[in-house]
Amino acid sequence: MEPAKPTKISAQNICKTYNPGTAGAVEAINGLSLDVADGEFVSLLGPSGCGKSTFLYMVGGFEKITSGSLTLDGEQITGPGPNRGIVFQEYVLFPWQTVARNIEYGLRINNTPKQQREAKVAELVKLIGLEGFEDVFPSKLSGGMQQRVSIARAMAYDPDVLLMDEPFGALDAQTRNRMLVDLIDIHQKTHKTTMFVTHSVEEAVMISDRVCMFSSRPSKIKEIVTIDMEHPRSVTDARFVEYQKRLLASLADEEHERVQQHQ
Ligand SMILES: Nc1ncnc2c1ncn2[C@@H]1O[C@H](COP(=O)(O)OP(=O)(O)OP(=O)(O)O)[C@@H](O)[C@H]1O
Ligand SMILES: [Mg+2]
Repeated sequence: MEPAKPTKISAQNICKTYNPGTAGAVEAINGLSLDVADGEFVSLLGPSGCGKSTFLYMVGGFEKITSGSLTLDGEQITGPGPNRGIVFQEYVLFPWQTVARNIEYGLRINNTPKQQREAKVAELVKLIGLEGFEDVFPSKLSGGMQQRVSIARAMAYDPDVLLMDEPFGALDAQTRNRMLVDLIDIHQKTHKTTMFVTHSVEEAVMISDRVCMFSSRPSKIKEIVTIDMEHPRSVTDARFVEYQKRLLASLADEEHERVQQHQ
């Protein structure tokens, strides 16, 4: 048996209320606990508006927790840091800068020497399969290529943790499938601890070590499903179908709950 990996991210009884004490208070999360091991790939799945992005942004340090404990390597998260890279659903590239410039953006900000920046860009461009596109501007790239650049940019500081909020949501099905295969490949090469928010049960089963199902708002973790399958996984594998069925049923229950609450 492999030795247990150390805990990378630990959320204990987290609560998050937006605008507390005002008429516009929104209780997004109530009593969420989750431990993510070093190198693990975890998906966050749940009904719309349940607090998946909120949780991801708290781990990123962009949103504060209202109560509970949220640690990275045993230290409370108090703000963003270079040990976490984030990829958003929208491609947030600078249109006036080339692929290389976009990727090395964070390294320029912290005055990394040119030689080191160039080496990093070369390494990442290779990792995302965009060699030869270094001097191209984002508008000349497809959506999938732009999202690859976003992933490379999130990895420029060589973060331990990658946080992705529905990164492939805006892509067509075929491009999304290719990106999933590539992301699995990147994860197997880099072993970065990854949190991946998605609406797609199929995406979650295809890519994750574990899938965390959020309950409807105010959310907590309803259940965690370990996907005990080797990569590459096939959607036609009976086990894949079984995981998918189980998670779809669980998600449908929570969606139902959410609709009931709003009636
Ligand atoms: N800045 C904010 N101020 C007030 N309420 C907010 C804010 N951000 C999010 N919310 C509310 O918190 C709840 C959780 O939102 P969040 O975006 O985290 O959900 P989500 O699970 O990512 O949803 P989706 O699947 O639609 O992306 C929602 O009710 C949302 O309206
Ligand atoms: Mg969201």
